[in-house]
Formats: sequence, C-alpha cells, structure tokens
Amino acid sequence: MKKKVLVTLNLQKEHLDRLAGECEVDCNSQDRPMDRKDFLERIAGKEGLLPSITDAVDAQAMDRAPGLRMIANFGVGFNNIDVAAATARRIPVSNTPGVLTDATADLAFALILAVNRRIVEGDRMVREGRFRFWAPFLFLGRDVSRKTLGIVGLGRIGRAVARRARGFDMPVLYSNRSRLSPEEEAELGVSFRTLPDLLAEADIVSLHVPLSPETRHLIDREALGRMKPSAVLVNTARGPVVDEAALVAVLRAGGIAGAGLDVYEDEPLLAPGLADLENVVLLPHVGSGTWETRMKMADMAVTNLLAGLRGERPPNLVNPD
Ligand code: DGY
Repeated sequence: MKKKVLVTLNLQKEHLDRLAGECEVDCNSQDRPMDRKDFLERIAGKEGLLPSITDAVDAQAMDRAPGLRMIANFGVGFNNIDVAAATARRIPVSNTPGVLTDATADLAFALILAVNRRIVEGDRMVREGRFRFWAPFLFLGRDVSRKTLGIVGLGRIGRAVARRARGFDMPVLYSNRSRLSPEEEAELGVSFRTLPDLLAEADIVSLHVPLSPETRHLIDREALGRMKPSAVLVNTARGPVVDEAALVAVLRAGGIAGAGLDVYEDEPLLAPGLADLENVVLLPHVGSGTWETRMKMADMAVTNLLAGLRGERPPNLVNPD
C-alpha cells in the first residue's frame, strides 16, 4: 500500500509526480500557507510530511500522526520543527542545504548594495517625478567597495558572501562559534573577531546564523549600540536573530545608517515604524527565491522524503541521533 504523505506547499507537477510514484499525496494546492487547523486535521494518519518553513511542526502536530516516519523540510533553516520532539519519536528530519547558498548570498549582496547606494529610494524618486536635475551632491549614498564587511555566522552562506566580497575588495571579518584554521582563513581571506569587536569595526554587518535559543536577539539594542553610526545591518537569516523593535529605535535615532532585511521577527508582520523608515530596504523573505533554487529545494526535499519513507537514511538528515 502506498504511504500517505502531506505536502503543505504548492509544489510543481514534476515533484508531485515523483512523490505520487510511491505515495498517496495530500498537497496544499493554494499558493499560501495552510492554516493551523487545516494542517492539524490533514496531518492525521500521514507517514510522511513535507512542510514549509512557515509550518510549526511541533509535538502537537506529531502526536496527530503517530505513524509519522519522515519530516522533509522545504528549507535549510529548520527552526519551525521541534527536532527534539521528532528525535524522541524516532522521526528523521531533513533540510535542503547547499542548493540555496548562492541565491541567498546573492540576495545579501543585493541588500548591501541597495541600502548603501539607495537603489529603492532612487527608484521611488524617479517614478514619482522628483528627479528634476543632476547635481554633484544630491542623493548620495555610501561606497561598498573597500568597506569592511562583518559576517556573523560563517557557514555555507556566510562563506559564499565572503567570496563575493573579494570582488569588491572588501576586508572581511567574521564571528563564528568555532574559528577556522589559519589556512582556511587565509584561503577565504577572512579575519576572526569576537562579535562585539566585529560590530564595532564593520561598515556592513551581514547575518548568517541559524535561529536557535542562543541566536535569538543576538543583535539586540546593546549589539546595535556597538555599531558605527555609518554602518548598515543586513539580515537574510532569520528575523528573531534581531530585536526588531530595538532596530527601529536605533535607526530612528541615527545609531546606524541603514538596514536591509529579508526576514522579520514576527513574519509577515513588521515592527511598528519599520516601514516608515527611508533608510531600510525590505524584502518578503526571498533569500532562496529564484526558480532554479526553489526547484532544486523541492527536488531535494522530495528525495529526502522518499528515502526516509523507504527506511533509508535521508541524504540531508539533521537529527542522526
Ligand atoms: C530557508 O531555506 O531556510 C530559507 O529561509 C527559505 O527561503
């Protein structure tokens, strides 16, 4: 008998067909997240789950499906899943690492450029007919080339951002739980700093840490207070890594020069006042949002789900214990 799976996001036909070859698929065909009630109803009796990063896959959800044998997240970040609860139930959990590294690093750079060169503000100005003449000291931004970039979290995406920074001749500082070997640092062209030192020295701070109890509000009012008034913060990681209300207060007070955000603390809601600020560029969580990347993520999630359901080790298992 085919195994029953729930896919909470609207995958493309080719991926659904692959699943349907081995499973009975219940798929959310709407291009919007399932509401919690619907999710809890439809997970009942399922053996496989392919959730979106917006689904809270917690103990309550797992208890609705005692036969659950595999959770294959559509995303590299898996803070939406209670991995400890899954491990306690011996349910393998997988994610989609690697395939979205370049797209996310590209987007971090797009935000770095957009905030410093005022791309979005400039676009608004032209569209609204406010571009009346060229003048040498009107509408100026800040250089990106040769500025000091501080990367917080030097995993796959952080490293990809560091590689891109070479093309801009940027000195790159990093802070990370563990320090690279001197050879690795030299190869990547990065220098280690503690987080407080990095925040104080960098002209641009780009966040690339996963969300965990240790990284929630890592960038709080005190951390923002260490940054230069001319510095820019970019977050393509997870919203709750930044205390968003503190960020709004610091931006308003001119404590830092600007911010580029792809993720929010209480997504999709924004902290009060954030959208009123001119010196921020705000995107709707599209770090991995290219056709090529999302297709690769879907392919990877399906491969993981099928492997887990066959009783094989999913290639991107996050809870080997
Ligand atoms: C991820 O994979 O964690 C991304 O945030 C999804 O775009």
